[in-house]
Amino acid sequence: MSSIYYDHAATTPMHEDVIRAYVEAASAGPGNASSLHALGRAARSRITAARDTLARCLGCEASELVFTSGGTESDNAALFGAAWAQRDKGRTGIVTSAIEHHAVLHACRQLEKQGFKLTVLPVDGQGRVSIADAKAAIDDTTAVVSIMAGNNETGTLQPVAEIGEWARLHKAAMHVDAVQAFGYLPIDLSVMPIDLLSLSAHKINGPQGVGLLYVRKGTPYQPLLHGGSQERKRRAGTENVAGIAAFAKAAELAVADRDGRVRHVETIRDRFVSELTRLIGKDAFVVNAEAAARLPHIANVSFAGIRSENMLMNLDLSGVSASGGSACTSGSLQPSHVLQAMGLSPEIVASAVRFSFGLGNTSEEAEKTAQIIATIWARLRN
Ligand SMILES: Cc1ncc(COP(=O)(O)O)c(C=O)c1O
Repeated sequence: MSSIYYDHAATTPMHEDVIRAYVEAASAGPGNASSLHALGRAARSRITAARDTLARCLGCEASELVFTSGGTESDNAALFGAAWAQRDKGRTGIVTSAIEHHAVLHACRQLEKQGFKLTVLPVDGQGRVSIADAKAAIDDTTAVVSIMAGNNETGTLQPVAEIGEWARLHKAAMHVDAVQAFGYLPIDLSVMPIDLLSLSAHKINGPQGVGLLYVRKGTPYQPLLHGGSQERKRRAGTENVAGIAAFAKAAELAVADRDGRVRHVETIRDRFVSELTRLIGKDAFVVNAEAAARLPHIANVSFAGIRSENMLMNLDLSGVSASGGSACTSGSLQPSHVLQAMGLSPEIVASAVRFSFGLGNTSEEAEKTAQIIATIWARLRN
């Protein structure tokens, strides 16, 4: 049976150079980066080199980067860190959007329970936040604005620069979840109006369990984790040295060949959709958020009359790994909050499948997957 991995938005395979960097760092000895002896200093210098590399990739200073355990921690640290630090100054507003990842939305709901005033901006039918809505919601009492760069279910891009400019005018901290966008969109923090930015290594062919939070110098921030004085007292805990070294390698590779990566996944996505159209006709499916400017590696497709779990199970049996794009709880798919926020019909929401492309995928696989879907579609439709 073939094995086609179309779930790169969930996690990506590690690049072979990244595995090499990981193994090299992991086999270098038992150094804790806080120890003063030679092995500890060697571990510290690996972290310093990785931080320098990531700072170059992002256009920021190395001292502005905090290593975390992943995108979820970075999002939580950004929101709680910047919100708590400003509460005493009378800034109690949090502004976010309805299509954020749950790492942001659930953290915002938690802040609301702690007394912050939460505004959740709606989106249009393509999943876009309106700049006018954001401007109306942000004022001098806003502590944090959190808007993602590109959505993990549909790929829809958000006007983070315009919203960030407005947040800056009101001295609110601007947080951007760039977990899916990094490696596909250019990110230059030296010019972008962003104060906090979340990244995750395993979305860019790095290891799982390592992330990064950028905190612009001067941004009000309180740590989420307390303990040792690692990461300039912004995140206590022994650093994941091998993971961090591998993350830096993955980021370096992703940024160096960003145009090539975009072209690669765009070609596959377009071939996949055109083959589907040829085989089952354009009325048999809809690509959600197709009219929006989108990340190139995601195609969120609803097949008329076929429930997501049926399509996914049949795809899995045929060796294709895709996802429902929505949370899987106790074995059943919950309707996607992103597609619901876009105002899509319950039928479209219930039949959505997220295909996400990346390293190692080929156009031949795209054609093969379209054929597999055509067979499943013909069977399930009857
Ligand atoms: C947009 C976005 N933010 C945050 C996360 C969470 O990242 P992690 O899996 O590293 O905790 C994800 C992961 O799916 C994501 O897609």
